[in-house]
Amino acid sequence: MYLYPTQTKVTRAQREALLKQRATLIWFTGLSGSGKSTLSVQLEAVLHSKGYLTYLLDGDNIRSGLNKDLSFTDEGRVENIRRIGEVSKLFVDAGFVVLSAFISPFRADRDMVRTIVGPENHIEVFVDCPLQVCEQRDTKGLYKKARAGQIRNFTGIDSPYEPPEHPDIVIRTAEQSVDDSVKALLDFVLPRIGGG
Ligand code: ADX
Repeated sequence: MYLYPTQTKVTRAQREALLKQRATLIWFTGLSGSGKSTLSVQLEAVLHSKGYLTYLLDGDNIRSGLNKDLSFTDEGRVENIRRIGEVSKLFVDAGFVVLSAFISPFRADRDMVRTIVGPENHIEVFVDCPLQVCEQRDTKGLYKKARAGQIRNFTGIDSPYEPPEHPDIVIRTAEQSVDDSVKALLDFVLPRIGGG
């Protein structure tokens, strides 16, 4: 392949200066129903109200558009996360504070994302919630379907989830309210995106 990347005149640093923020990827990982979407939606709203330019990438949304050709097999999930990693990198380069909420069950894929965007631009949030609690919540009714054999390869049932070994922050949603969780996230995130 003959590729000659174009050198742009406007740099990420200039965009960050314009926006008065430090572009960062906040990556939420956890089981279906653990609270990734709830927390990322709330955190984004607070960051926006504080004047940050944000963008939220969410599994169910991206899988209805860009990634609608992908399945929930291991291969489908690997490609899902690879593409989201690349999209997140573009948004970080554009100067955004990006929030990405995907089950992202495989450690190797999450590590790949960290490498793609650069570890200095990356915060990993482990939304830690026991499977039994996620299954009890069953907000989308999918665990019931998975147990009944109507959905195959469901994370936690017949598809694995590898918890992070060294997440930057852990939020235990079975023990902590949404408000307390968002507060903990804000305390961690703000100093890293140029606030505090
Ligand atoms: S990931 O594993 O590839 O990271 P992603 O976050 O994009 O998953 O999508 C997860 C969402 O897809 C879940 O919240 C759920 O609503 C839906 N979904 C549908 N089928 C499955 C399945 N087999 N396993 C997990 N989630 C599923």
